[in-house]
Amino acid sequence: MTSPLLLDGKIALVTGASSGIGEAIARAYARAGATVILTARRADKLERIAAAIEAETGRAALPVTGDVTDEKSVLEIYKDIHKRHGRLDILAANAGQLADGLIGMIAAQNLHDMLAVNTIGVLNHLQAATRLMRRGGGGSIVITSSIIGRTGNAGQAAYAASKAATLGLMMSAAKELGRDKIRVNALAPGFIETAMTSHLSQAVREERLKGIALGRMGTPEDVADVALFLASDMARYVSGQVIGVDGCMVI
Ligand code: NAI
Repeated sequence: MTSPLLLDGKIALVTGASSGIGEAIARAYARAGATVILTARRADKLERIAAAIEAETGRAALPVTGDVTDEKSVLEIYKDIHKRHGRLDILAANAGQLADGLIGMIAAQNLHDMLAVNTIGVLNHLQAATRLMRRGGGGSIVITSSIIGRTGNAGQAAYAASKAATLGLMMSAAKELGRDKIRVNALAPGFIETAMTSHLSQAVREERLKGIALGRMGTPEDVADVALFLASDMARYVSGQVIGVDGCMVI
C-alpha cells in the first residue's frame, strides 16, 4: 500500500524557503515526492537551496524570487504556476519577520510593518493560491503562525498581533473554503533554531529552555514534519486547527 504521507505528483509552493523552517518544509515536501516551488527575496540563496533539494530528492525544485508584500509579483508567481503546472495542491505560507519592541516604544508604523509581511503577506498568497486550488478540486494550506500569536510575549506585541491575526485568517478561510475541499491549518512553532533566533544571547536561550518541557530548542525539521503531515492526505479531516510545535513550551 502507498503511504498516504507521500505527496507524489503534488505541486507545492513554500514561501520564505530561503532559510530555516521554510527551507526544511520545501525539502520535506520534495522528499515526499512533490514538485516544489520555493520563493523568498534572495535569488542566490534560493537557487542554491533549490539545486541542493533537486540533487538530493530527484524532484523538481524551482526557485522564484519575490516579496510576499508585493501583491502584483505574488499574482505573477501563480500565473506562472498555472502556465507550467496547471494547478497547485499545497501552499506553505511561511515567510515571516520578527521585530521586538516594548509597548511604550512601538510606533504604529512598527505594527504596520509586521502586519505587512506576517499577515497581509499570508493573505496575498492565500488568495492567489485558493483560486488555483479551487479549479484543481481542492488543496491544503499550512500557515506558519507562532506560539507568540496564541499566548503573546513581553516585548513582542507587534509580532504577536501579526501572528494572532494569521490565526483569525486561517480559521475563517478554513470555514469559507471547506466546501471547495481546501483545508487550511496553522503551525504554532515555539523556540526554533533558525536565523530568527540566532541573535539571542546564551542567557536568554538558557532562560527560555527552562520553560520547554522537552528540554531543547526545536529544529526546522521538527516543524517541517508537522507541515508534511498537514499537507498530506493523512490530515484529510483536519482543517481550521492550530498545531503547536513547541516541545511543550510555557511563555
Ligand atoms: P528565517 O529568518 O530563517 O526565515 C524567514 C524566511 O522568510 C526567509 O526565507 C526570509 O527570506 C523570508 N521572508 C521574510 N520576509 C519576507 C518577505 N517580505 N517576502 C518574502 N520572504 C520573506 O526564520 P524562520 O525561523 O525559519 O521563520 C519562518 C517562519 O516561522 C516565520 O513566519 C516566523 O515568524 C515563524 N516562527 C519562527 C519561530 C522560531 O523560533 N524560529 C517560532 C515561531 C514562528
